[in-house]
Parts: sequence; C-alpha cells; structure tokens
Amino acid sequence: MFLPDEVIKEISDRTDMEQLVGRYVSLQRAGSRLKGLCPFHHEKTPSFTVSPDMGVFYCFGCKKGGNAFTFLMEMEKMTFPEAAEYLAREAGISLDEYKHTGDFQGSSERQQIADLYDKVADMLHYILLSKPEGKAARKYLDSRGVTPEMVEKFRLGFMPDDRTWLYNFLIRKHYSPEFLSKTGLFSAKYPKISLFTGRVMFPVCSKHGNVIALGGRIMGDGQPKYINSPETLIFKKGEELFGLNIAMLAMRKAGFCYVVEGYMDVIAMNQAGIENVVAPLGTALTDHQAGIIKRNAGRVVLLFDGDAAGVKAAERGTFICEAQDLICEIIKLPGNADPAEILKKNGPDSLHNCLKYPINCFDFILENYCQNLDLTRFQGIAALYGKIFPLLDLTDSEVRREQRLKAIADKINADYRSVYNDYYKHKGGMDQNYTGAMAVQDNKISSELYLLIAVLANYKYFDMVRSELSADDFYDSKAKELFIELEECYRNRVFSRDVILQHLTDGKLREIILEKTSSDEFNLNPETIIRDSIRNVRLNNLIMKRQKVERLLKKEVSEHGDVPEELISEKAYYDKEIENLKGMLS
Ligand code: UTP
Ligand code: MN
Repeated sequence: MFLPDEVIKEISDRTDMEQLVGRYVSLQRAGSRLKGLCPFHHEKTPSFTVSPDMGVFYCFGCKKGGNAFTFLMEMEKMTFPEAAEYLAREAGISLDEYKHTGDFQGSSERQQIADLYDKVADMLHYILLSKPEGKAARKYLDSRGVTPEMVEKFRLGFMPDDRTWLYNFLIRKHYSPEFLSKTGLFSAKYPKISLFTGRVMFPVCSKHGNVIALGGRIMGDGQPKYINSPETLIFKKGEELFGLNIAMLAMRKAGFCYVVEGYMDVIAMNQAGIENVVAPLGTALTDHQAGIIKRNAGRVVLLFDGDAAGVKAAERGTFICEAQDLICEIIKLPGNADPAEILKKNGPDSLHNCLKYPINCFDFILENYCQNLDLTRFQGIAALYGKIFPLLDLTDSEVRREQRLKAIADKINADYRSVYNDYYKHKGGMDQNYTGAMAVQDNKISSELYLLIAVLANYKYFDMVRSELSADDFYDSKAKELFIELEECYRNRVFSRDVILQHLTDGKLREIILEKTSSDEFNLNPETIIRDSIRNVRLNNLIMKRQKVERLLKKEVSEHGDVPEELISEKAYYDKEIENLKGMLS
C-alpha cells in the first residue's frame, strides 16, 4: 500500500493524540502538554509527554518519541501500513482506493520471493538432515562441533553439488524462469546455474524469523569461504543482522547485545547459552544495524578477535555505535581466536570466562592509539587529537565528555585545562569567534537547527526565514535536511509535521525535533526567537565567509606577494555586515 502525503496528513489531522495515548497511559495536564508514566521504559516519576496540538509524544527519560503512527508501531508492534489503516478507520477515512495501488505489484512479488526463500531454506534443511547427499555436510558440521540442536535452531541446510538441481526443481514446481532470475539464487550470467553448490547453508532471517537471504560455506578450505545471496526486493544488505530474530527478545531482557563477526560465532554463542548476539553480514556494522540494536537495547558489547583487522573493526564499530547513542564496550578475545574457535577448543565455560570483563570502548581505543603514537612529540599528540576528538564530538553527555578529556590528559601527562581548551578549539574550527557564534542557545544543537525547529513548531514564520535564507546558507547537515523539507512543504502548500518527520532520513534529527517541540521553549515569543535566530545564522554565515576570504588573502600574499583588490573589498563588506548584525543582536 502506498499512501500519498496528503492522506497521511489527513489521518494525522483527524487523530486525537490525547485520546489515543490515553488508552495506554494515564495522562495529567501540565500547561499545554500532558504528562504520564512512560509506557516504553520503567519509571517512577512521569517523564513521558504528549503535545496534542503538535500531535507528538516524547519521553525525556528514554528519548522515545514520535507521532500517532509511530506510537502504535511501538506500542502494538504494527507496521506503518497497519498503523495507518487503524488510525484511518478511527478517523472515518477509507483507504480502500490505495490498497491495490502504488507498489501493489511490487509487494506481491516481494511476497513471492519471501515464500520462495522460506521454501528453499526448508528444502535445504531437509536435505542436510535426511538425504544421502547431506551426509558429508552433517559430518562437516559435526567436526566443527555444531550440535544437532543448533542445526535445528538455525535451520542449517545443504545445497547439493549439482549446479542445475535447484533450477530444475523449482521449474518443476511451476516457477517461471523470469521470476527465478529475480530471486538472487542463480548466476546472473547463467540463469540455470545455482549461486551455491555443495555448500553448508545458513538462512538469514528478518527480525520476524522469515528467511530473506542465504549464506553458504564451502566445506573445508577453498575460496570463496562464504557466498552470500545478493540484495533482492526482500533483502537490503546492511539493514539486517544475522541472529536478530533470536536475539531480539534476549537483548531486550538483558539490556545489551553482543556483536560478533560471523555466522559461526553467532551459532557458537547460542550453543553456549547466550542468545543476545548478532553479526553484521560480511560487512562492517552499519548505522542502520546499530539503530536496530538501539531500539532494543542500550548497550553493545563488540567481540572481535585480537588481530589488527579485529581491532580496526572494533574501532569503526565504536564510532558507529556511539553515534547512535549506544553505550559501547569491547571484548578482545585471546589470541586470534573467534568465539567459535574458543568454544570448540576450550568449551562453553571458557567462552563465558572470556566475556566476563568488557572494557569501555573509549579506554580501549585510547590505549590502542597511544601505543602506536609517539606522545613525547607534539606531532604524536596532534595525531592523537585528530583521531580521538571526533569520538568526543559524538557524545551528547557533557559529563562523559569531561571524563574522557581527563583520561586523555592523564595519558599524555598534560594539564586537564589545556586538553579541554585544545578540544574546544578543535570543535570550533580555527576561529574562537566562530565557536562563539555557532555555539548555541543550547549546548547540543547548532543555531541553524535551533532556528528551523522553532519554525517547525511555529510554521507561519517560515515565510520570514525563506525570504532571508536559502538552503545554501545552512552548514549543519541536519539543518539543511530540515530546511529542504520545509521548503518542499511550502512549495506544495501543504504543511504537516508528521509528513516532515516521516520524510526525514536522520533518526537522530527526528529525536532532537521531538525533544525540542515537546518542551515549552518555543511557545513564548516565537517571533522574537525566530527573528534573532535568523540573524544568528546570517552572522555565522558571514563569519565563515570572512574566514574563507582571510585564508585566501593569506595564501595570495604568501604565494604572489601582492594583495588582490577584490578580496580586500569583499572582506571589508563582510566586516561591515558583521558589525551591523552584531549591533542588532546586542
Ligand atoms: P570469518 O572468516 O571470520 O568466518 O568471516 P567465520 O564466521 O569465522 O567462519 P568459519 O569459522 O571460518 O567457518 C566472518 C564473516 O564474514 C563473512 C561471513 O558473514 C562470515 O561469517 N564472510 C567471510 C563472507 O561473507 N565471505 C567470506 O568469504 C568470508
Ligand atoms: Mn571468524
């Protein structure tokens, strides 16, 4: 089902948020908002708010927030179309005309591919367990210490050696060659030849447990070790995690999730009784995957083997997880072993022992950088800053940032204040002035984003903003994305916060917007806030432009020895404008 934006707007306009949320949470009025105990996390004092005028909810405790659609998706585990249908029904809007439109064609093909993967996985599982062809694979798995329970739990299978077996089998079941060519199970060049032959098969499941892709391991040595089925209508690499269907409940319960490298590691951990474990599929962990974990648990423990590649992967994983606001810890496994090898060689107790003492990722990374840099020299410290400061930028917590700055100061034997100053210099770019201006009404978001969120809460002032600023005036990428969405609404003459929130690709941005619009800060004097913010943004812009001219000037002087007229007058122009604006703001 594909719903046009106007319909989404219509549904949300006609939905009474107070009544909807009120069915699940007892709400008390507090000013223009309503407050109650958050249904998404355990709490004793209310930090969950509903703003009926905006049609949004936000919890200041667990930071979950959204609109009527997302509320139902979270609360009732509905999909977006299900939530839309539910709300439309309540609002007396019929969606019948959309049910068979849009990507109906696509969704039925999606369904057919999904069914096929499920059937094929069952077939391969049966061959592994019960057919003579499966014998060698049974032996192989046994030799690797995989128990029959795990073979069952993960529906492991075996793909026969015959390269056209699968094709012939499916054609006999009346699948068309054209359809089979879209399934990703056959060679693109030779459509009858199976992508996998003579391999042990690992079904990759969606979070609901439906098979959406397959991985196949060669038995013994040989290349490639693993083959993975390609992206299809039902499978986007980087958006799925191996083991997620099993890990979901376990990680919610435990509050954290292990991330391991591969198929065999997930299985080994499960065999040792640990279910809260997932693996990215043959790539480094992606933002999307970290986001999935974030929705189910607050902490990740990255498990990597101790070789250089493992350390590198752990470092990258840390950046990705911190950006999603996940608390991130690391376990460096002994030697170059992975969990599967530890389980096989030393048994489950030994594997459990290895998991006992996770190290905080920041300490781990800092230690690792320090070992590889000469910190007695200035260049070494500069290199350390270059690598580690970006990690500090990611955290929203001032307390955590301060602890980390102290840890760095300790490591390089420097005074905390100087490291602190170095950090804020790095953060502000080259000019303190610029830091001062860009720094923010609020210590988390840029003045650009602040302005646009204020407008989102008070849309009638958008006119004023677009008459003074254009998309190019926004340096903050989050603010730029939001501006473009607002502009789009303006041009289409439909404004809906829900539609904008729906369109935003940046989850963090959505969270910030919900947090800000759920507080009262834009209710008093929005016009003044917005006017001042526009000036602030223009001021930053001018300061950045002036800096650029100054750099060009310096370069010209050092390279050619003369001072180009245009640059001087451009700088003078910026100087004057900056003075003017500063006058207005003070
Ligand atoms: P590993 O080489 O560590 O494999 O790759 P493994 O999981 O330990 O498997 P065994 O124990 O040797 O059988 C880790 C993961 O990287 C992906 C797979 O997802 C694998 O599980 N990979 C690896 C591939 O996609 N292709 C390859 O050729 C190798
Ligand atoms: Mn491995």
